[in-house]
Amino acid sequence: MTAAQIAIDGPAGAGKSTVAKLVADRLGYLYIDTGAMYRAVALLAIEQGVAFDDAEGLTALIRDNDISLEPAPSGCRVLINGKDVSRDIRLPEVGNAASPVSAVAEVRSLLVAMQQELAARRPVVMDGRDIGTVVLPDAACKVFLTASTRVRARRRANELLQKGMTVDIDQVEREIIERDERDSTRAASPLRQAEDAVLVDSSDMGIEEVVCRIIELAEGQTS
Ligand code: DC
Repeated sequence: MTAAQIAIDGPAGAGKSTVAKLVADRLGYLYIDTGAMYRAVALLAIEQGVAFDDAEGLTALIRDNDISLEPAPSGCRVLINGKDVSRDIRLPEVGNAASPVSAVAEVRSLLVAMQQELAARRPVVMDGRDIGTVVLPDAACKVFLTASTRVRARRRANELLQKGMTVDIDQVEREIIERDERDSTRAASPLRQAEDAVLVDSSDMGIEEVVCRIIELAEGQTS
């Protein structure tokens, strides 16, 4: 039997969202991009001038606004009070703000509760940093997807190049190392591999290979 909850965690740039979306499509599961939820809170904080470490202000933003996710061909569509903000949340300044916002314990507990509610309704593939450890600790299939910092930097640099931006790959790699350090050492739900998660290193794997590996794991064919 295929696992009804598939948890995919790992550092930035490991390819989690691309792979998670493909796995969800093939299995007919709902894909939930939890990073998009932290980004939506960060966007609200920027728009409404709330400090990124103001637990009370951030909590009020989550309570007073309707943040929802909808399946979309490109992954997840993110709505704030019914308005599609899927593009806005991908801006670099929103990504930068999402990092301190996601370190606030009160923000995490509200978003984790929303994520658990979504996963209770139907089979899901959920990606993030704390899915196997905190959000879905009982998931039957847990994957920790990673890749070397150089490979992740190269992938990120290619994305930026495609958007017409100039990039210094060494600088991109340094930023990735700093972000890994911040995500892994924060007090609230640091990024770490769950004890029962399977490590998949995608440094030398193509997307299709990673997708097949995760589906095999979800179907219990772990050899
Ligand atoms: O995966 P991403 O870049 O969209 O995530 C945005 C930020 O949210 C990033 O700083 C990590 C954080 N995050 C988190 O702390 N827990 C999650 N489950 C998902 C993302």
